[in-house]
Amino acid sequence: MSKRILLLTLSCAVLANAQVPAGASGRGGGGGGLGGGRFKTYEPAAISRGLPAYTTNCASCHGATARGGKTGPDLIRSSVTMHDLDGVQIGNTLQSAVHQNAVKLSLPANQVYDIAAYVHSRVIESSGRGQVHTADVLVGDTKAGEAYFNGAGKCNTCHSVSGDLKGIGGRFDAPSLQERIVMPPRNAVKGVPANSIKATVTPATGPPVTGVLMRQTDFDVILRLADGSLQSWTISKGVPKVVTTDPLQIHYDIMKSLKDSDMHNVTAYLAGVK
Ligand code: HEC
Ligand code: HEC
Repeated sequence: MSKRILLLTLSCAVLANAQVPAGASGRGGGGGGLGGGRFKTYEPAAISRGLPAYTTNCASCHGATARGGKTGPDLIRSSVTMHDLDGVQIGNTLQSAVHQNAVKLSLPANQVYDIAAYVHSRVIESSGRGQVHTADVLVGDTKAGEAYFNGAGKCNTCHSVSGDLKGIGGRFDAPSLQERIVMPPRNAVKGVPANSIKATVTPATGPPVTGVLMRQTDFDVILRLADGSLQSWTISKGVPKVVTTDPLQIHYDIMKSLKDSDMHNVTAYLAGVK
């Protein structure tokens, strides 16, 4: 319960600071206002289930962050998303002849709901991004942020301000930096799909197989192996067993438990890392 409240606080803080005038945020595709499902805040559990489901089923066309890809339109500025509530309109689009022509997907309604929850969470983030004033984000205490980074936050177990995060404060403005702490992009390295979700499939007979998770539903799983080939399995009654590892999982976990003060402090600290 407390986790849920924290996330709501985070999202609301972004929205409140953003002062988005109703319908005036420059999104394409029809009708502004706060109506529809546009600003409904979904439960964190649905969003974190929706992210990997989105990544495996939609990201290849609609882009890693739903802002559009080579073969699919932006879902953040989409009027379908804007009018979607609980995945109903998005689900209808998936079933439409045009979309079935692009890709034959038949996902269970609960998974479409989770994916919609994730896409809506991205809309809320994007509405804050670029409109949050730097001063509103940099209200933290640099020293406390440094202590958190090297202490309770355990950020230094994976990062170093003289290594991978060197110069981070010069590379991003404060709102973008804060967004990256909460949700680092899945394709961090240009052209090379970094941070992909890996999975190990253990068939009933034979050795376990590990690869990049391309698709996972209740009924099947597809991996891309090291040599680039795809291998798929039908899943029945939980067999074969699939174990996934997401290099960004830690960041989604952080997002669920991060206090606003820690967020502000660590953002202020990293903004000063030039
Ligand atoms: C093989 C590529 C591909 C995949 C995979 C894919 N889409 Fe699409 N999608 C498209 C194309 C192309 C369009 C534009 C044609 C259309 O309107 O249906 C589209 C359109 C849409 C639209 C309507 C956008 C608008 O503003 O009109 C939504 C919503 C959507 N897709 C959601 C999804 C979701 C959610 C997933 C994953 C469950 C997904 N798509 C997977 C290619 C894809
Ligand atoms: C278990 C490892 C792990 C921990 C702990 C961790 N991160 Fe990350 N972090 C990652 C990975 C993996 C990425 C994505 C790869 C990348 O972009 O460097 C990432 C990305 C980032 C980025 C984006 C970097 C960029 O160049 O876009 C920032 C900022 C960041 N983390 C800050 C933090 C902070 C602050 C903490 C502590 C509250 C933290 N991380 C804890 C693994 C971790």
